[in-house]
Amino acid sequence: MTGPESEGLTMRRAVCPGSFDPITNGHLDIIARASKLYDVVHVAVMINQSKKGLFEIEERIDLIRQVTADFGNVEVESFHGLLVDFCKQRDIPAIVKGLRAVSDFDYELQMAQMNNGLSGVETLFVPTNPTYSFLSSSLVKEVAAWGGDVAHLLPPVVHEALVERLGKK
Ligand code: PNS
Repeated sequence: MTGPESEGLTMRRAVCPGSFDPITNGHLDIIARASKLYDVVHVAVMINQSKKGLFEIEERIDLIRQVTADFGNVEVESFHGLLVDFCKQRDIPAIVKGLRAVSDFDYELQMAQMNNGLSGVETLFVPTNPTYSFLSSSLVKEVAAWGGDVAHLLPPVVHEALVERLGKK
């Protein structure tokens, strides 16, 4: 074993949670920045059984693993349940979230306060790169479904997967 844990030091862990259906350049920017601030970044693909996604959970995980492989400290998995339980089970004290615009703030603040009240986990907000401030997986899927060009908004492997998936529909 190498790294902080081999020296008896605690690893600084954070989680980037989301639906990631699919991961966009906006998500990737936040994960990349979190990966510079923490020893390990857990990407949690949260399962919402009332929402059928375009990509299966395993497909989302596979795409995220491919595009975060170079960071070297990102672990990707899915979770069915409360985010605070994901954090408790892995000893993660911090949630990192991107804030795109003021419109994100109300709901994100509510969730951050709820999560902190439930378990003491902290939420850190990272201002999204302005290049991606309008970007969401839903919009990308809608634009792509109507034939719009979204290649600049997604990692190439994700764009390929999206084009293929929509072509098959
Ligand atoms: O990418 P999304 O869909 O905007 O992500 C929202 C997500 C998955 C982070 C949020 O809905 C969540 O944390 N869900 C897990 C269930 C949970 O803990 N709910 C209580 C939130 S206070």
